[in-house]
Amino acid sequence: MTRTFFVGGNWKMNGSTAFIEDLSNSFTAASHVSKDTEVVIGAPYVYIPLLTKVLRKDWGVAAENCHSLASGAYTGEVSAEMLKDVGATWVILGHSERRSIFNESDEFVAEKVKKALSVGLKVILCCGELLEEREAGKTQEVVNRQLTAVVKAISESDWENVVIAYEPVWAIGTGKVATPEQAQEVHFEIREFLSHNVSAKVAKETRIIYGGSVTEKNCNEIGKKPDVDGFLVGGASLKPSFIDICNAIA
Ligand code: G3P
Repeated sequence: MTRTFFVGGNWKMNGSTAFIEDLSNSFTAASHVSKDTEVVIGAPYVYIPLLTKVLRKDWGVAAENCHSLASGAYTGEVSAEMLKDVGATWVILGHSERRSIFNESDEFVAEKVKKALSVGLKVILCCGELLEEREAGKTQEVVNRQLTAVVKAISESDWENVVIAYEPVWAIGTGKVATPEQAQEVHFEIREFLSHNVSAKVAKETRIIYGGSVTEKNCNEIGKKPDVDGFLVGGASLKPSFIDICNAIA
């Protein structure tokens, strides 16, 4: 079984109705988009209904977060049920910006993953280390800790609806992309972790994608690595040239 190449766009807190309509039109008009790549676009909550209307139909629509509960006195929050209700099919969870800026614990992220899967959303689960953690030789310890919380929260069969995104925090938004060797090393260790803590089947079938300063210029070398199954792209997903990243393996 070969793992389908997966490219996610994470627009973060960016966009407008006009911008989204124009960019979506450029994606639709692209002369070639690999049929061998699964593509999902993550947008701010308020633009998800629009994106479900204007984004090419062979691509998926993701939210960039959700709460762990269905409803209640949580001003400003959005539930997984609501995302499903307005047409999202994926949700990005555990992004380093949620963990660091909004203080989301590994356990809270795991609760969200469980909830999102329970309502039928698929999950892009983010993990990754800070620069000081890498420099201290703690990269795998940190990633394993983040993943362990999710292993405890979900069942083996749940993993078929999870894509893991390894995003070294020191590469996000910095232009300092990880080398293909650095990405492969961590992706290999994540697959080993899945094999030892979930199952050989899950380890073999789970897509592990890389995120952190990916562009159309550096994606091909990283994408060739055996345990790199795609990308989660921030800044470069807000441009028409995002198509070139989606075609990286074409
Ligand atoms: O989730 C993807 C994001 O964290 C990477 O951002 O701008 O470095 O591609 P960027």
